[in-house]
Amino acid sequence: MHPTQTLPQPVVPSDPQRRTWLLTSSAMGVAATAAVAVPFVSSFAPSERARAQGASVSMNPADVAPGEMKTVEWRGQPVWVMRRTPEMLATLDGMQGLADPDSQAKQQPAYAANTHRSIKPELFVTVGICTHLGCSPVTLKQGTSNPSVPPDWQGGFFCPCHGSTFDFAGRVFKNKPAPTNLVVPLHKYLADGTLLIGEDDSDAA
Ligand code: FES
Repeated sequence: MHPTQTLPQPVVPSDPQRRTWLLTSSAMGVAATAAVAVPFVSSFAPSERARAQGASVSMNPADVAPGEMKTVEWRGQPVWVMRRTPEMLATLDGMQGLADPDSQAKQQPAYAANTHRSIKPELFVTVGICTHLGCSPVTLKQGTSNPSVPPDWQGGFFCPCHGSTFDFAGRVFKNKPAPTNLVVPLHKYLADGTLLIGEDDSDAA
């Protein structure tokens, strides 16, 4: 970050309950950002093209339990790997109120241009940075008591900085500050199931 650049400040509403939630969520976002400073990933053997672009990283998605998420650092960014449950996936079809439900803004590779925005429906791989001003969203599951999301919230991600909300495919809801869906990075699965983030089969050319 440039020394003169300032971080976006959370909007603190007057309602005490919502304020408490936002501040708590904001702290979680900061904690998540701090956590990604720790190297998460194992070593790798990047292709020459990938090396030129910035090394790829690998992880074993079998380590991610259903409904949970792990964070991998790639090019200094947190990349989330979430294993969505059938219930989470079921929320994606026909989700209402999305700004770009078909991902026309091309925030993902072609192989992730589908409703679940992933190669394998259950495994969601995305850069965990809000497309508004770069804060770290937090996961809010269905049934959360967080008053920042509507009562019919079906689960997804919430950015505590300015209130952007995303579904479990990282698709942003309408009328939120974030202009686009969360970014899906290049990735692919190797024969043994290893997830490689940062390159795909187009790198073989
Ligand atoms: S950084 Fe502003 S809503 Fe996420």
